[in-house]
Amino acid sequence: MRKIKITDTTLRDAHQSLMATRMRIDEMYPILDKMNQVGYYSMEVWGGATFDSCMRFLDEDPWERLVKIKNRVKDTKLQMLLRGQNLVGYRHYPDDAVEEFIKKTVANGIDIIRIFDALNDIRNMEKAIEVTKNEGAHAQGTISYTISPVHDLGHFVEFASRLKEKGVDSICIKDMAGLISPWDAYELVSNLKKEVGLPIQLHCHYTSGMASMSYLKGIEAGADVVDTATAPLSMGTSQPATDSMVAALHGTPYDTGIEIDNLAEVSNYFKGVRNNYHISGDISVGVDTNVLNYQIPGGMISNLRSQLAEQNSSHLIEEVLEEVPRVRAELGYPPLVTPSSQIVGTQAVVNVLMGERYKMVSTEVKNYLKGLYGTPPGDIDEDLRQQVLKGEKPITGRPADMLEPILDEARAEIEKYIKKEEDVLSYVLFPNEAIKFFKRRIGEEPPLEVKSENNQGKTEKSMGKNGKENMKASFEHINVIDESLIGAARNNVVYYPA
Ligand code: CO
Repeated sequence: MRKIKITDTTLRDAHQSLMATRMRIDEMYPILDKMNQVGYYSMEVWGGATFDSCMRFLDEDPWERLVKIKNRVKDTKLQMLLRGQNLVGYRHYPDDAVEEFIKKTVANGIDIIRIFDALNDIRNMEKAIEVTKNEGAHAQGTISYTISPVHDLGHFVEFASRLKEKGVDSICIKDMAGLISPWDAYELVSNLKKEVGLPIQLHCHYTSGMASMSYLKGIEAGADVVDTATAPLSMGTSQPATDSMVAALHGTPYDTGIEIDNLAEVSNYFKGVRNNYHISGDISVGVDTNVLNYQIPGGMISNLRSQLAEQNSSHLIEEVLEEVPRVRAELGYPPLVTPSSQIVGTQAVVNVLMGERYKMVSTEVKNYLKGLYGTPPGDIDEDLRQQVLKGEKPITGRPADMLEPILDEARAEIEKYIKKEEDVLSYVLFPNEAIKFFKRRIGEEPPLEVKSENNQGKTEKSMGKNGKENMKASFEHINVIDESLIGAARNNVVYYPA
């Protein structure tokens, strides 16, 4: 017998992947007691886009959400996703912010922190790992899984060994695009088990339709935990269904010990929640063959479509889908996950729309080429680097070493709005959204109108004609780190599955 553990992702990844991260705490609250009793190993409830979405769209304090969940979920571990030195934001933060953020995160109830870096650059993860360990929480080191000429079995195993040296408690294979095939999962898990020897957790998205098969082969190879979502919020770009996984393993040596009847109650509840939301046909379609053809995450494709629709250029989607792998190769084959997916995707759109490659380059691409995001897995195209940096030398050290401490200054800037120390962190991460949120909180601004219906998949009508001028004007926002990296139009921010 080797009991398989289940991490339920319903309250974080599932609604990030299917519902643009719009599930509200009052929609979670009624079912938390039940979920606490199910017998999941852990529940992923925080991180990724949830932090941003809380303030930007839902008028919720992300910290309060965490505390409310913790108050109800006392027996099941709470888990979060952390973008390494990017925390839950879209750029690197200095070490004082990383340290304080993780301290507060653990103090407010998170037990397991899954730490990843979009480039698998361990220097962007080591500080977060160290602080997580010091705070007594479980540090899960993450392999951002991808397919490329530089990503082979040896590469991943070597990376996991280095994570182990940094002291992580377990390893997650994070397959955000749903690319891993069942046999590759078998090979990777067995080699990690043999060479690294830590508990292995599989996190796959269903996008290509292979995830549940990959879980089964991964489990055979020795995986200890798999990530699943409640049935009504599973599959598509989300995770495989908890209900099916538990049923499939029932009565086998890998039995999860979870009662299917308990799960049915949870699923029935979320059927109701799901019915309140429009889930785009792009996403709810069972299998996205583009993922297999282009190896581009499903959420990224719908975002590219939105960006093109804004420019009245939807007909260019095929060209963009072909441009993405070229840009990615030139940038040294980063795994496509926040923020590299947005950096590569936006540049591919710009390249196609301008009719000339790299005629315009986003600030993020410049910073990437300067080494400010870290070292990519493969080599950066030197001609491109020369062309963009014009002789400026890229940095080779750890990017966060270039950053000055930020907390004291931030605290002083928002002194009159601070109700608790966590507010400073919210402000550091999302200055614009946090200030607006603080103003609403004290009645300086009217409350946000929270829609129970999201508009994922729909795009704003582009204003004006599709002239070059118009296009230039709307590209100005690619220089703004905050909105530009998460999606399309300002009012229609779309988060990628992560
Ligand atoms: Co995910």
